[in-house]
Amino acid sequence: MSILAWDKNIILDHPIIDQQHQKLVILVNEFYEAIRKKEANSAIMELLQGLIDYTEFHFKDEQNLMRLNQYPDYLPHVSEHRKFVAHVADCYTRISEGKLVISLEITSFLRSWLVEHIKVTDKKLCTFLAQKSGKQ
Ligand code: FEO
Repeated sequence: MSILAWDKNIILDHPIIDQQHQKLVILVNEFYEAIRKKEANSAIMELLQGLIDYTEFHFKDEQNLMRLNQYPDYLPHVSEHRKFVAHVADCYTRISEGKLVISLEITSFLRSWLVEHIKVTDKKLCTFLAQKSGKQ
């Protein structure tokens, strides 16, 4: 069972970005599954940390692509990345300190944010990159 589907809604036709997004979808689904199956907190936290790490890796790659291509909307895009990482890292800390309970609501947030960010903000970037490379 998954909470997030890898489908045409979020496929942007950029090989590197799509490959990394697909990995993010897998990680969100694994995190969701672990919570749904009520796995041990330590296992769930390990998955959350893995998700944070991979997200940061992906954001850095995307930001490098933006800089290399002198993307005009670099700053607002990076701002969205930063807010997301800060929010998820804050969730991780609050869970670790016992101030937030692990729940499926966290996965709902992850899914909604990712889908919206990919469909709007990343799509805009990929359209720009495709136009720049003469593919559109
Ligand atoms: Fe694919 Fe802007 O994150």
